[in-house]
Amino acid sequence: MASHTVALVPGDGIGPETSAAMQRVVEASGADIVWDVAEAGAHLVEEHGTPLPASTIEAVKRNKVAIKGPVATPVGTGFRSVNVALRRELGLYACLRPVLSIPGAGGRYDGVDIVIVRENSEDLYAGIEFEEGSEGARKLIALCEEEGAGAIRPDSGISVKPISKAASERIVRFAFDYARRHGRRKVTAVHKANIMKHTDGLFLRAAREVVMDPALFDVVVFPNLYGDIASDLAAGLVGGLGIAPGANIGDEYAVFEAVHGSAPDIAGQDKANPTAQILSAAMMLAHLGEAEAAERIRRAVRAVYAEGAHLTADIRKATGSSKPAASCTEFTDALIAAF
Ligand code: NAI
Repeated sequence: MASHTVALVPGDGIGPETSAAMQRVVEASGADIVWDVAEAGAHLVEEHGTPLPASTIEAVKRNKVAIKGPVATPVGTGFRSVNVALRRELGLYACLRPVLSIPGAGGRYDGVDIVIVRENSEDLYAGIEFEEGSEGARKLIALCEEEGAGAIRPDSGISVKPISKAASERIVRFAFDYARRHGRRKVTAVHKANIMKHTDGLFLRAAREVVMDPALFDVVVFPNLYGDIASDLAAGLVGGLGIAPGANIGDEYAVFEAVHGSAPDIAGQDKANPTAQILSAAMMLAHLGEAEAAERIRRAVRAVYAEGAHLTADIRKATGSSKPAASCTEFTDALIAAF
């Protein structure tokens, strides 16, 4: 088996706990992974002036592939988001979030198997904003009136929603390539083009142009904001944030990470469910060509959920079970024993 070096960014909150669990499981899967550990998180701001030091971006660039834990967005530091900055810096334009039922995980429906593809670089997430009362807001309001685009109340704050033809085509092609490579039958484009004609409408036209045989392929492709909301909701269908994996992919780099955040309410208590990060690692191994190790991890996860004796508190809650909850460490021990 080939050896691969990947960057590991444990993050903060529950990140170090779920990352440690993930490392143990990857080792148990037989994959030969060398970890190049780099830091990100609010705890670095004092020393580095930023939660995302340049050396961390360099580590991802050096290794091309990374897996990260969640990172809290520090409030009031002027830094918008580590995740948004990383996606921008590395050109990770596609966010991939598979939503798959795991029997025993407490999902509302069985047999859910959807792949969410979210555009990562534009839409309301682009961060183009004008504060209420600012010169920019005033000019934009005047421009909208002059152009007959509509009246905006003078005391409004404004966020701009840019959607381009190039980025729309790129994400739709990504969705189709993914569908083809993974034997999926259908790609669905989600939009609100009847109201947002010039942004969602453009996205829809790009999707139609790329589609040649829509009957072929079950991937759902979204502009950035809807994709964010839909992937959190879809995680709810299959048992919650504790089990939802993800990846951010560009032409050169790929960063794998769970959908959930740093869960400060349970951080440091060995209560976090590491499944989401472990399944993100399985996606990473498949990406590295280690399909067998990835499948061994997925099989072990299914076995632990099917057996149901060592499940974390979030899953006990989702299944309405009164059995005692396993800690993050106990769950990971059970998973490793299931290999
Ligand atoms: P969150 O996902 O951290 O937590 C929401 C709820 O889900 C909490 O009750 C938490 O305990 C629970 N939860 C999440 N992951 C869990 C797990 N693995 N096991 C068990 N329970 C789990 O979302 P929230 O509270 O909105 O955000 C907290 C911080 O995380 C914020 O600073 C936010 O900016 C950041 N964040 C970071 C992300 C990333 O790095 N990719 C993604 C989303 C949020």
